[in-house]
Amino acid sequence: MTWLITGGAGYIGAHVVRAMTEAGERAVVYDDLSAGLAERVPDGVPLVVGSTLDGERVARALAEHEVTGVVHLAALKQVGESVDRPLLYYRQNVEGLRVLLEAVTAAEVASFVFSSSAAVYGLPDVDLVTEETPCAPMSPYGETKLAGEWLVRATGRATGLSTASLRYFNVAGAAAPELADTGVSNLIPLVFEKLTENAPPRIFGDDYPTPDGTCVRDYIHVVDLAEAHVATARALQASPGSALTLNIGRGEGVSVREMIDRINAVTGYHRPPTVTRRRPGDPARVVASATRIATELGWHAKHDIEDMITSAWEGWVHLRPEAARS
Ligand code: WQD
Repeated sequence: MTWLITGGAGYIGAHVVRAMTEAGERAVVYDDLSAGLAERVPDGVPLVVGSTLDGERVARALAEHEVTGVVHLAALKQVGESVDRPLLYYRQNVEGLRVLLEAVTAAEVASFVFSSSAAVYGLPDVDLVTEETPCAPMSPYGETKLAGEWLVRATGRATGLSTASLRYFNVAGAAAPELADTGVSNLIPLVFEKLTENAPPRIFGDDYPTPDGTCVRDYIHVVDLAEAHVATARALQASPGSALTLNIGRGEGVSVREMIDRINAVTGYHRPPTVTRRRPGDPARVVASATRIATELGWHAKHDIEDMITSAWEGWVHLRPEAARS
């Protein structure tokens, strides 16, 4: 099997490439390097620089590398930006997927793993979100992920393509400092940024209906997430015609305040947070039921919050040595 991994030069993509190759799978990276870094692509793994909107380029890559499976991670993922630029998000995330699927079906690729998101659920009013929880995305980003799932499922039904949509919860951590997320748009790096500016970390609202009033999320280590892709790829290979939709989380909720306390302890900054107003569109609680992926694939998360924060901090300091506390 040779897997084309779109977005494989990105933060999550690079971890998926690493896990797939360590599991003995052949990988080819397809990435437009708009956010990805070429140096994240391991020696021996071919890199094809291109957009999934370029159908001819994709088709050539599928043929040249005799691709039998695709893991599609290339997408725009900033929720706030998607509100301001919906047409950009629909073009990149939906049209880009449609063009890719056309090339995939023409080349008779057997398996397709799609990177979806917990954002498809919107404001789930349940303790644990299952894959049957109604999807009502709150942002154009979440809408593009749900539309992507529909495209993937419909294509699988029409052609026999084996498919899986993986709904990521809150991804954090790194396998190694040089693979850490370089973006500063999610909780953990945003808190790092405040701490290293000697400013108080911000809690976006503490009046939610949760135990400590702050939002609760399900954090998953990127290494566990990558391993879930290996397990999924193998499951699709083993049973042609599959159509899986799987949550990828730990099933354990952690509040913003708890996370900030843990981050303060790991980094040694110990700076109390300040509470600001709510961020529009934030659900109070989004925590996965991870039962289906455990049952279907035998996958379980192995890393805890401490691993995520510690490895993320090592990545932060790798790029900013001055941030380390003695
Ligand atoms: C987590 C919590 C914030 C920063 C997003 C996407 C989702 C997925 C994961 C791609 C929220 C609070 C944050 C800060 C804070 N991405 N917060 N102070 O919004 O749960 O999910 O990333 O698939 O699709 O929506 O993640 O890290 O932005 O926020 O209080 O400085 O931390 O309000 O409750 P989110 P996040």
